[in-house]
Amino acid sequence: MRAQFPLFNSHLELAHLYWEKLVHKGDLVIDATCGNGQDTLILAQLCADLKGGLIYALDILPRAIELTQKYLHEKLPSVHFQQVRFILGCHSTFPEEISPESVKLITYNLGYLPGGGDKTLTTTAKTTLESIKKAMLLLQPGGAISITLYPGHPEGQCEEQSVLSLVEKLNPLEWSCSHHQWINRHKKSPHLLFIQKRLVI
Ligand SMILES: C[S@@+](CC[C@H](N)C(=O)[O-])C[C@H]1O[C@@H](n2cnc3c(N)ncnc32)[C@H](O)[C@@H]1O
Repeated sequence: MRAQFPLFNSHLELAHLYWEKLVHKGDLVIDATCGNGQDTLILAQLCADLKGGLIYALDILPRAIELTQKYLHEKLPSVHFQQVRFILGCHSTFPEEISPESVKLITYNLGYLPGGGDKTLTTTAKTTLESIKKAMLLLQPGGAISITLYPGHPEGQCEEQSVLSLVEKLNPLEWSCSHHQWINRHKKSPHLLFIQKRLVI
């Protein structure tokens, strides 16, 4: 499909382009669903340098934390590996040391751990909503939340509806929200939701 329509980016490529535009060296970022660590690596490469940059990588599965640690250990210089904090637990709670209005980007790649894991161990509408509401408080002005949604499975469909119904009611003077979807493809194809907090409060 992609080879026939080279103009467009996939939902993940598009997310990564926004991340590159937003995140600079020294920033604080959170990967709220680190999984295999591929997104965490991109975030770390964008923000970690010798002067600063900090990345929190959260996942509810011990296996995901192990995979992310191993992947980043292989791919990142050790000095930057030290700038990643691995947190095993549900993203409905963020580490207490993260101050309100301090984070540049919080990413969610929703669903289950890819690569043959248990597909019932997926993100859920309830905890995803709790997490996004808390994430909004942690964003600095101009910061953003990136959410890739997978409505192709039942919980993903419920999750998408809940997240969209929260986001579409946000005050447009404080939040700018964009929803990218393929309108002539199957409605269950992945979507990208991007939420930016107003730069000047
Ligand atoms: C699609 S994967 C993430 C892919 C990952 N970003 C990558 O680059 O490989 C979704 C991840 O969310 C995790 N997850 C599910 N429920 C969670 C929760 N309540 N809190 C944190 N992580 C959760 C799953 O264990 C899984 O690893």
